[in-house]
Amino acid sequence: MGKIDILLSDPRLEEIIVNNHKEPVWVYHRRFGWLKTNIIIPTEARIRHFAMMIGRDVGKEITNLNPLMDAHLASGDRVNATLYPISNRGNTITIRKFAEDPWTITKFIEENTIGLEAAALIWLAIQNEMSILISGGTGSGKTSMLNVISNFFPPNQRIVSIEDTRELTLPQNLHWVPMETRLANPEGKGGVTMLDLLVNSLRMRPDRIIVGEIRRKQEAEVLLEAMHTGHSVYATIHANNADETVMRLTNPPIDISKPMISAISLILVQNRNRRTGKRRTLQIAEVTSAGDPVVLMQYNAQTDRMDTITEPKVTFEKISLYTGMTRQDIQFDIRQKTRILQWLIGKKVKDVDEIGMRMSRYYLGNLQLD
Ligand SMILES: Nc1ncnc2c1ncn2[C@@H]1O[C@H](COP(=O)(O)OP(=O)(O)OP(=O)(O)O)[C@@H](O)[C@H]1O
Ligand SMILES: [Mg+2]
Repeated sequence: MGKIDILLSDPRLEEIIVNNHKEPVWVYHRRFGWLKTNIIIPTEARIRHFAMMIGRDVGKEITNLNPLMDAHLASGDRVNATLYPISNRGNTITIRKFAEDPWTITKFIEENTIGLEAAALIWLAIQNEMSILISGGTGSGKTSMLNVISNFFPPNQRIVSIEDTRELTLPQNLHWVPMETRLANPEGKGGVTMLDLLVNSLRMRPDRIIVGEIRRKQEAEVLLEAMHTGHSVYATIHANNADETVMRLTNPPIDISKPMISAISLILVQNRNRRTGKRRTLQIAEVTSAGDPVVLMQYNAQTDRMDTITEPKVTFEKISLYTGMTRQDIQFDIRQKTRILQWLIGKKVKDVDEIGMRMSRYYLGNLQLD
């Protein structure tokens, strides 16, 4: 794509935007924010040509009849394109660069997005194959959190992930099959929906299933069915707190029955503070057998830390039932996990693959803390 290629190879740029052939290309720089480049794409036809090329590589089309297109580059960067006159001032291309350096649990703790104890509790739940739902508003960091909690997956299990566009990056040493939905072509053929992939994933013998975002009733039904049949499921949903998450799931249009909801063990709520822009874990809740959420930990904006509201009950009971661990054993385990996380931070282990390596040693019983 000519000079845009230079921008694409700069890891400090988060977004690259073409508005039309008259304005220079804009970029969003990690440190400096929005910047105007000195690159101009000389004609509208050229912008349109770039969009068509990008689409062709992934089987998508942009035409006068289909003037909006979502696609991605081979590198994983997300691309949206629109054509004039839908976009009034000319053809546009918006590229959101793929985060090469994905969020990890140690980075989240260092940024104070989540506390050590909260992270250890999530780790405990994941080790014990409990299902977790991540909720939050638009741009609150749901997908980032989904990526972060996958740091805790054990290495000897099969993971299938399903997304509309790929955003997740799991540690390399995991047994992971990433899958992506596809829109139908202009003749209405070749579409592969989230539901198709979900149903299919159950035949791929997964131990853990990750779903980008739950939006529709049928997806939620299949997902909860999968939980009830013994799979651990991790998914995101749009809601602002634990109560709202259950309300959304149990009311139309999703409308799942409340007892079904009990298969979800934990709800993590992510929040972006509208005033400060800080992203934090707002709540961690467990779900009772009746399908009611009970908040265990909650963010306190005054102290910028999470307060413990109540000790986990259902979660600990489930773990005791399946593993024979006593309450003391579980508490000891949480303290040990907290220490390991602290140690990882002290050792500056931030990279997703390096964390994956340490986790796999932990699960094999030979992680040495020095
Ligand atoms: N804890 C965090 N601290 C700082 N930045 C974060 C944090 N979590 C996520 N981000 C950044 O916020 C942006 C949005 O994150 P993400 O895509 O995970 O949110 P989302 O809730 O899934 O958004 P959407 O509603 O679009 O699906 C990304 O640029 C991401 O890198
Ligand atoms: Mg998301």
